[in-house]
Amino acid sequence: MDEDKFRKQFMTKSVFKKASSLDMSYVPEKLHCRDEAIKSLIYNFRRILEEKEQPTISCLILGKGGVGKTVTARYFGRNFKSIALEKDVNIFVEYFNCINFRSKSKIVRELLAKYTHGSGRGFSDDEALKLILTQLIREKGYMLLVIDEIHLLKPEEILAFLDIAETYGHQNAKLSILLISRNRDWMRIETERILSRLNEKIDLKPYNVDDAKQILEYRSEEAFKEYVISDEILDMISQIVADHENMRHGIEILRKSGLYADKHGLSSVNAEIIREAANEVYPTFRADIIDQLNDQELFALYGISRSLINNKEPFTLVDDAFEEYQIICETYSIEPHVKMSFRKYIRQLNELEIISSKTVRIEEAERGRHLEITLLDIPAVKLEEFLIDIFNRKFDL
Ligand SMILES: Nc1ncnc2c1ncn2[C@@H]1O[C@H](COP(=O)(O)OP(=O)(O)OP(=O)(O)O)[C@@H](O)[C@H]1O
Ligand SMILES: [Mg+2]
Repeated sequence: MDEDKFRKQFMTKSVFKKASSLDMSYVPEKLHCRDEAIKSLIYNFRRILEEKEQPTISCLILGKGGVGKTVTARYFGRNFKSIALEKDVNIFVEYFNCINFRSKSKIVRELLAKYTHGSGRGFSDDEALKLILTQLIREKGYMLLVIDEIHLLKPEEILAFLDIAETYGHQNAKLSILLISRNRDWMRIETERILSRLNEKIDLKPYNVDDAKQILEYRSEEAFKEYVISDEILDMISQIVADHENMRHGIEILRKSGLYADKHGLSSVNAEIIREAANEVYPTFRADIIDQLNDQELFALYGISRSLINNKEPFTLVDDAFEEYQIICETYSIEPHVKMSFRKYIRQLNELEIISSKTVRIEEAERGRHLEITLLDIPAVKLEEFLIDIFNRKFDL
């Protein structure tokens, strides 16, 4: 391609009006079909604005993947902050996803750095929390701490967050908590003690076809120019969303089909493009999470996908994956970690629901059992394409 041709590509028309509105972290202006959930949040948290003693409230948003838990929490946080400001209450909304912050300490340290500009080194979690709470009082502020994918913390860490008011004194804790978790993950960690500390559990049900259509219509109006997405196309995507009970799937289809139309110089999206795009979307596969894995986890995942491709079986064994992992590390001139660490990365990938692993008993095996690894719903070759993309970006070979 020469420069002229390169330039021309920038001048071709696009079907997008605001492509960034389909990014995963985008929070839309309006939130359709979640009025009940938002109302529950308001009833619980408005006491902070009404009562002089500013109570500590703890709520939990539950629901399957892609039902809008994260977007509902962020939408609430943003609007709660502005209403509070009108009432002269300064709310700091802090959002943490435990995929990036895998322990209570990491979260506390991040907050300490932000609120006191100190590194927090040398402080215990307790001391650090005390400093943060003191700073909140000094600034006459109040914090709404939103913690997403909470199941990645240990139950005692979750309890410690929920017990802040008890531990440091109600008058000292200018802080409330909003937790987010998928039902299945939450089931594994829920205990009486945790339950007794929650003001409310808000369970989000999957969207039906009508809800899905309303949401998709609004999101495509934001993202695309007029006449790009027809009513029939919206019906088609809404059905897919309802079938999979996952809105993320719908948003991804919109994004992918827009990119496809642009690439092929089309001025609107047709049914064939939607079918193509739908085939490229894997509803339980969360690309945004892969992007945030650390290097070793990425190498481990690459090893797994390589050995799945080589094996031509629906599952692979930890030893095979480990061998591939070592080869990949070598290719990228990175010292491979020992097998025990590799097993730890497998466990982490399993917890993040990127892979599924289970121990099976077999007679012939060394110690009578081995670890089988499978991918959830993305084919290994697709995952590999995806990883190669990330590797090219990150390691620039
Ligand atoms: N009511 C809604 N209005 C507009 N967009 C929505 C709505 N519900 C969900 N979405 C969009 O659908 C996608 C998935 O939603 P979200 O990320 O909140 O799901 P989630 O329940 O947090 O899923 P996971 O458990 O996988 O994290 C996001 O792009 C979000 O913006
Ligand atoms: Mg989420």
